[in-house]
Amino acid sequence: MKTVWTHLCGALAITMLLAFTGAPGANAQQVNPTNEAVSEEALFQQLQAGQSVSGRVSIPDDGAAGLIKPDNKGWAATHTGTVRTLSIAAIVAAIVVLGAFYLIRGRIRIDAGRSGIRILRFSAFERFSHWLMAGSFIVLALTGLNLVLGRMIVLPWLGEGAFSTLTTWGKISHNYVAWAFMLGLILSFLVWVAHNIPDKVDANWIKQGGGLLSSGNHPPAKKFNAGQKIIFWAVTLGGAALSFTGVMMLFPALTGGEADWQLYQLIHGIVSAVLSFVIIAHIYIGSVGMEGAFDAMGSGEVDLNWAKEHHSLWVDEVKADPNRDIPPAKGTQPAE
Ligand code: HEM
Repeated sequence: MKTVWTHLCGALAITMLLAFTGAPGANAQQVNPTNEAVSEEALFQQLQAGQSVSGRVSIPDDGAAGLIKPDNKGWAATHTGTVRTLSIAAIVAAIVVLGAFYLIRGRIRIDAGRSGIRILRFSAFERFSHWLMAGSFIVLALTGLNLVLGRMIVLPWLGEGAFSTLTTWGKISHNYVAWAFMLGLILSFLVWVAHNIPDKVDANWIKQGGGLLSSGNHPPAKKFNAGQKIIFWAVTLGGAALSFTGVMMLFPALTGGEADWQLYQLIHGIVSAVLSFVIIAHIYIGSVGMEGAFDAMGSGEVDLNWAKEHHSLWVDEVKADPNRDIPPAKGTQPAE
């Protein structure tokens, strides 16, 4: 009797032990996701394609309950890899192309020298629109680039604490400065679109390579030449694509779902890289690359000889305009 009692107690003890620890064998493949010590890797292995780890939410947006989806981790790696490679390629290509251009052509000078006569090229409102768009674009480009390349380039240099602070503030600035960019983009579009409709003059300008490769060759151009029109449309269309995809990412509930969101994220990264290349070239030619160009967006006035060389048809329009007056050179008397 004592032996039977001993066996019964032993069997009960083993059953209780198994109940507490989980039986080896049959239950070994199952993972309890609410178990504190569950391994993330083991949890992922349990999930079939398309499944996710999700919690419970009390708001109408069910999507907010999704926590981790292994499929998306794979997508994130592909996306980051593509955008990272393209961003590096855009910056390196811009440096190589502009470096080669500078070595071949040097700084584009005003062939006739400065006349001392200055004419108004852009009003204060045009310059405000440009700098609102340009300043915000530069903040967005740098903070966006930090999200893509920061861990690779900035983190080892700054250390974890400073990098984390920089990236947190960078991300917040990115989300808010975007609205200033959109306003600048709309204003610039409205003030300049009429001057950026392609016409026959542009075909000739392009045929002559804009006269950029040799001094003394200045194909005629109106207020904006063909090269500038390309920049205007690249900024307008690229900026619109960035704005749309950015707003969709800020408000995911507006998107058609996860696949749409991922597509917007990819488009956002690719357009940013391409537009950054265009803008680096634009900044070069609008500052150090061409003598007299920056004045147009600085004081708003350019030298008459610069204007005659780069925008001869626009100078003719200004001269023919009864409401515009070309002032005499500083220090000279107007003709009687
Ligand atoms: C430090 C940065 C920048 C400088 C120095 C600069 C300089 C200039 C200058 C001098 C012009 C007038 C050219 C002329 O007289 O014909 C101009 C025009 C323009 N800029 Fe910028 N810019 C800068 C950044 C940007 C950025 C970031 C954007 C867009 C996101 C931008 C978009 C434009 C557009 C669309 C025009 C009119 C078309 C054209 O001239 O190409 N600029 N800029």
